[in-house]
Amino acid sequence: MKKKFTHATIEKSPMLLLVLTLIVVAIGGLVEIVPTFLIKSTIEDVKGVRPYSPLELAGRNIYIREGCYACHSKMIRSLRSEVERYGHYSLAAESKYDHPFQWGSKRTGPDLARVGGKYSDEWHRLHMADPRSVVPESVMPGYPFLETTPLNYRNIGGALKALSIAGVPYDAEAIENAKADLEAQATPFADTDQLMQRYPKALARDFDGNPAMISELDALIAYLQMLGTLVDFNAYETTDFKQ
Ligand code: HEC
Repeated sequence: MKKKFTHATIEKSPMLLLVLTLIVVAIGGLVEIVPTFLIKSTIEDVKGVRPYSPLELAGRNIYIREGCYACHSKMIRSLRSEVERYGHYSLAAESKYDHPFQWGSKRTGPDLARVGGKYSDEWHRLHMADPRSVVPESVMPGYPFLETTPLNYRNIGGALKALSIAGVPYDAEAIENAKADLEAQATPFADTDQLMQRYPKALARDFDGNPAMISELDALIAYLQMLGTLVDFNAYETTDFKQ
């Protein structure tokens, strides 16, 4: 009598099981891997997202240097509780110029992805110098030295150039003018035409309340105040999580 070919036949033959398993895994692999070679980009372009201005970038570098990411995330998940607390969930495009990205993995403090514009510069100045002066129960450490330390931006052009190698679209002109753009953004009444052309929506003012010096705090506040402000979410459907 002819033996019927059933699942048991496969299970009783190690070689057959191995070969068939490999075929199934290979199909699964192809389905997952092939599309990544066929699409041009895994990140959807979003209107408004632009590379950081030199001053914002300097602020971001201080954020990284001081380890702010150890307590703060910059990644709003698409959960109702998060969207209600922080605003629209983060889009991949919003961190596409971040090298390395600052999504973070721990929230001792709140998410900062959309903190831009939430507080005044003065609030940030007080909060950075001594968090408990504005939030009595805060466990955040103070960073009072930031406002007394002049920002070292000698190599800001080099920082832009390095990022351009990683794919951030800073052109030769942006790299050449990095220092001038940085100074224009932090100096009251400076000519900001070029800065605005290169970095639309850049906030130009004296951020730390001391116009005599461009401090590390100027850069950090410029960075905090632009976070989450580039994309106009009213132009997108935001109703998904707010029925
Ligand atoms: C030890 C953990 C810790 C570190 C490190 C830390 N923070 Fe915080 N941060 C907190 C906590 C907790 C809060 C909430 C209480 C408060 O507002 O102070 C907070 C609040 C904030 C807020 C206000 C957010 C909001 O929406 O109310 C900002 C802005 C902020 N931190 C920026 C920074 C920056 C910039 C750094 C690095 C220079 C930093 N933090 C480092 C714990 C931390």
